Amino acid sequence: MKDLGQVDLHPNNFGPDFQWGVSTAAYQIEGAHDIDGKGLSIWDVFTSRRGKVKNNQHGQVACDFYNCFENDIRYVRDLNIPNFRFSVSWPRIMPTGRYPVNQPGIDYYNRVIDFCLECGIEPWLTLYHWDLPQALELKGGWTNREIIDWFSDYTELCVKSFGDRVKNWMVMNEPSVFTGAGYFLGIHAPGKTGLKNFLPAIHHVTLSTSAAGRILKNILPEAKVGTTFSCSHIEPNTSSSRDLAAAKRVDALLNRTFIEPVLGLGYPMEDLPVLRRLEKYIKAGDEALMPFDFDFIGLQNYTREIVKSSFFTPYVWASLVKAEKRNVPITEMKWEVYPPSIYHIIKKFNAYPQIRKIIITENGAAFTDELKDAEVRDIERTDYIRENLKYVLKAKDEGCKVDGYFVWTLTDNFEWAEGYHPRFGLIYVDFETQERVIKHSGLWYKSFLKQKTR
Ligand code: BGC
Repeated sequence: MKDLGQVDLHPNNFGPDFQWGVSTAAYQIEGAHDIDGKGLSIWDVFTSRRGKVKNNQHGQVACDFYNCFENDIRYVRDLNIPNFRFSVSWPRIMPTGRYPVNQPGIDYYNRVIDFCLECGIEPWLTLYHWDLPQALELKGGWTNREIIDWFSDYTELCVKSFGDRVKNWMVMNEPSVFTGAGYFLGIHAPGKTGLKNFLPAIHHVTLSTSAAGRILKNILPEAKVGTTFSCSHIEPNTSSSRDLAAAKRVDALLNRTFIEPVLGLGYPMEDLPVLRRLEKYIKAGDEALMPFDFDFIGLQNYTREIVKSSFFTPYVWASLVKAEKRNVPITEMKWEVYPPSIYHIIKKFNAYPQIRKIIITENGAAFTDELKDAEVRDIERTDYIRENLKYVLKAKDEGCKVDGYFVWTLTDNFEWAEGYHPRFGLIYVDFETQERVIKHSGLWYKSFLKQKTR
């Protein structure tokens, strides 16, 4: 096992096939919320409800990527980043979530894809990054089992429209976050709460994920098909048996509930007993439909969580010890800066023999950025990325099947319920003028990637 000090951070040391990239998501950057026939998404509706997002901000304009995409993709090229991950907004191409198709929406993504290729950048497409068509939400959204068919039709449309040029696909972005925050806690769109929404959403997302995987592979056998999961390294607050058991439940909820059924292991009901209530939604034959053999699994990691047992939190009987109370360095999101987390996560998922390949499809941090003399000296973000990369390389050097790293994110953007305040970008955005300034972290990533010679 290598010490971190012995890790030589050079892109060549990650191997010739390692995929370097940057990630984005439609609602967070595109704006153009009602242009060219686009339908409403649940985020358009959620952000229009007062008090749901900090300062009542919304993504109506965001980074205006819809109009500025050429400019921003040129930045990707100029930063020497070979892979660009973006998502398709379902209501932009299917305004009601179902047929008929909105051709201007398809044309727009064709322009984005073509421009990436013209710039020598490989497009990586995510099918679902949280902006469900509102028309489908009115029918229950992810709680309605019919969504498996709706999502399958949408997937097929994307594959048939873009599959001649897009070789790398991701089905879902972080199911635990969009179901947990959107259908249990109500702090993200569509703002639903409780187990009665959360449990059916879990099961329908699982079935939709594997259904979409099958559609993709049937139509495009050569494509690289993956799906992404949010994951955090979990540690118990003390070594008491109660905290250990609490940590196990939280780990099952945050890190295992969505991936294990896809890997053919079923839901982790033993370790998180509340999941037994999923049985109500599982129909005969579902178990065979849940697994799908993805070419890669996208892991998205930002921090670690410290867990203690709690009698006040139903179902998991556990709570997170806030980083602010632990006297540790934190980001603007109040998440602990703890780069070893990514190493532990890679090790943990590497141990599943069913996973063929791991790609870190998101990693990054929000810090208070100051634009001064046309520069943003974001030393903390640069350090964060550099340290995280060292841990990725350490895991790789130890034989883990990790084969890619995508920074979250290209430009500062709409950070969901937090609005525009936490800035995660490699590029600073003045949201009044839409001017961009490459931050020092962006310049660092650029010079780092420039060293790649094989
Ligand atoms: C999501 C992104 C989000 C980022 C930072 C991930 O959970 O995929 O959409 O902006 O983390 O919070």
